[in-house]
Amino acid sequence: MAAYHAKLSAFGSSVPKKIVNNFDLEKIVDTSDEWIRTRTGMFERHHATADEAASDFAHEAAVRAIESSQVRYKDIDMIIVATVTGDYPFPSTSCVIQRKLGLKGVPAFDVSAGCAGFIYAIHTAKSFVESGAARNVLVLGVEMLTKITNWNDRGTCVLFGDGAGATIVSRANPGDISRIIDSLVEADGSQGDLLYQAAGGSRMPASHESVSKNLHTIYMEGNKIFKNAIKSMQASSEALLKRNKMETEDVDWIVPHQANLRIIEGLASRMKVPMNKVIVNIEKYGNTSSATIPIAMDEAVRSKKIRRGDIVLLTSFGAGLTWGSVLARY
Ligand code: UT7
Repeated sequence: MAAYHAKLSAFGSSVPKKIVNNFDLEKIVDTSDEWIRTRTGMFERHHATADEAASDFAHEAAVRAIESSQVRYKDIDMIIVATVTGDYPFPSTSCVIQRKLGLKGVPAFDVSAGCAGFIYAIHTAKSFVESGAARNVLVLGVEMLTKITNWNDRGTCVLFGDGAGATIVSRANPGDISRIIDSLVEADGSQGDLLYQAAGGSRMPASHESVSKNLHTIYMEGNKIFKNAIKSMQASSEALLKRNKMETEDVDWIVPHQANLRIIEGLASRMKVPMNKVIVNIEKYGNTSSATIPIAMDEAVRSKKIRRGDIVLLTSFGAGLTWGSVLARY
């Protein structure tokens, strides 16, 4: 039994100013607006410039989330950042953000779970809050995937964008309607080689050869990932609903990872959820990995599409392989 309930307090997000649309990509890659739109649903995405890094956007997203909440800076007692493209291999990007926020002493660590990172981070924060070990956990998803994009691989380079999203997982007060109802995370390491970055770790440290062979960039077997993504997000969402004795009709909004509009439509169709209950913003941001869900939540909350008391189901899938879902009354 949890000692307390956790809730999603508020959201914030930040993306680079530079926008790259499908026509811009046509000029540098053998692709077309038509292919990208029909195969992925994307039109534009934001790209960080050479002097911009993950913590710049994560910091801004964090400030926006904190300022939209009732939580004061001094009340934040933990920082968790989901990222695979942080500022440095070490120290953690959460420590960089802690410094920028002036929160010396507050524990800070990163979570590496690819595009499912934000779900993993919420799951972790929720456990700390429910046990009473933390009261207000700043949770971020931030990714700068264009920094590790292989521009010779048209099957991946058109997909990714950069950005950051933040929330605060807080202890719910007695009488609060907001509450994280449940969360579920899973992994299958045996399929890790479908989506990975070969070089830059201890398996293959940086060398002239690793750089010349483009091994510091994203490798993805798109078709296999596509099928796994729909199946896993459906299974996870349905398992979470079932163990909470809820039906899909009880959910007001599904907020899925934005990797491909066809994946999102496939998931909605298998779950028999109409698309007007699914939050989609992929045409504007592309795939920002661990940042897609908090950016989508932030936009939907600010535009008053998602309101306090609505039941939301967040679900994601990514490298690892990893996947999971969060069910919450916002
Ligand atoms: O974020 C977490 C994980 N990521 C995902 O969930 C992504 C999952 N995968 C996907 O979204 C899709 O598999 C992709 C968008 C990556 C690819 O779409 P697809 O429908 O699976 O295309 P494909 O890889 O089967 O390629 C079909 C054709 C190929 O040409 P041929 O062999 O049929 O002549 C490709 O060479 O499309 C070609 N193609 C392109 N053409 C124009 C691949 N990329 C491009 C491109 N522009 N950018």
